[in-house]
Amino acid sequence: MNKSGEGIAHPNIAFIKYWGNRDDGLRLPANGSISMNLGTLYTHTYVEFRAELHADTLTISGKKISGAALSRAASFMDQVRRLAPEIGYAEIVSENNFPMGAGIASSAAAFAALAMAADKAAGLNLKESDLSRLARLGSGSACRSIPDGFCEWACGSSGEDSYAVSIAPSTHWELMDLIAVISGEHKKVGSTAGHSAAFTSPFQNERVRTAPERLNKCRQAILDKDFAALAAVSEQDMIMMHSVMMTQAQPLYYWEGASIRVIKSVRDWREDGLSCFATLDAGPNVHVICPKEEMQTVREQLEKISGIREIIVSGPGGKAQAV
Ligand code: DP6
Repeated sequence: MNKSGEGIAHPNIAFIKYWGNRDDGLRLPANGSISMNLGTLYTHTYVEFRAELHADTLTISGKKISGAALSRAASFMDQVRRLAPEIGYAEIVSENNFPMGAGIASSAAAFAALAMAADKAAGLNLKESDLSRLARLGSGSACRSIPDGFCEWACGSSGEDSYAVSIAPSTHWELMDLIAVISGEHKKVGSTAGHSAAFTSPFQNERVRTAPERLNKCRQAILDKDFAALAAVSEQDMIMMHSVMMTQAQPLYYWEGASIRVIKSVRDWREDGLSCFATLDAGPNVHVICPKEEMQTVREQLEKISGIREIIVSGPGGKAQAV
């Protein structure tokens, strides 16, 4: 029996953010979230279960990985082994075509691609909702990288019904994400530690309480292709998440000087009639979202701002695939 499999998945950018869990172990989010897959960026992962291995091994971009990242991948593989108990340990080899750990959700693409590859290698043949639930156990946002295009992750009531579904395919709307890369360095405090302290912020309960309203507005704006409505609700949601991050017990200031320069400039450009908005995840890079027609103008404006090392451009991406 062939016990190897390959998977490809895109990272995603959230318009309505996931921050904080009801259950950290199961990655059951405090609130639902909505995102767009990023089609030009991807992680490609190869998994091979081999009888002679006594533990899982992990290689990322040609580098043998040990420590916390390996343990996290191995815990994920334990979930796969719960579904296929006889399968044994695996060699995992992964490549990204984008920088890791700096606000482009590398863990989302990583665990979505790993879920696809492991499913194939173990012969599980899971359906999309099960793949999304499996990916969620590796990294919450990874569940949104399984379905096509624009995806919503329902917070659900248990581990069973917390997974993402596509609300519109990648072909639905040509939105572009211009990622202003401000730092490619690995962040000091990652999302997992950040999520676990979210409720130490006095603002988290209010953010969670009002999330369903913003989810409704965001979903509707995507379905209607109403850019102004999407911009308003997404920027507000991003600022609410960062307000929580900055007021946690150990405050997380992900914004750098150049990040705030971009955020403020984007607001000015929008007031001057340019359709665009800014959103940031757990890192300093600013994702500037705009309709395809505005892409060139936005790019030219961004190039005038100091402190941006690189601009990475992506349109909407499809679902994760087994290769
Ligand atoms: C700020 O999915 O990276 O990007 O489950 O611990 O891996 P883990 O967290 P992760 O959190 C992403 C948080 C965010 C917002 C978002 O993508 O919704």
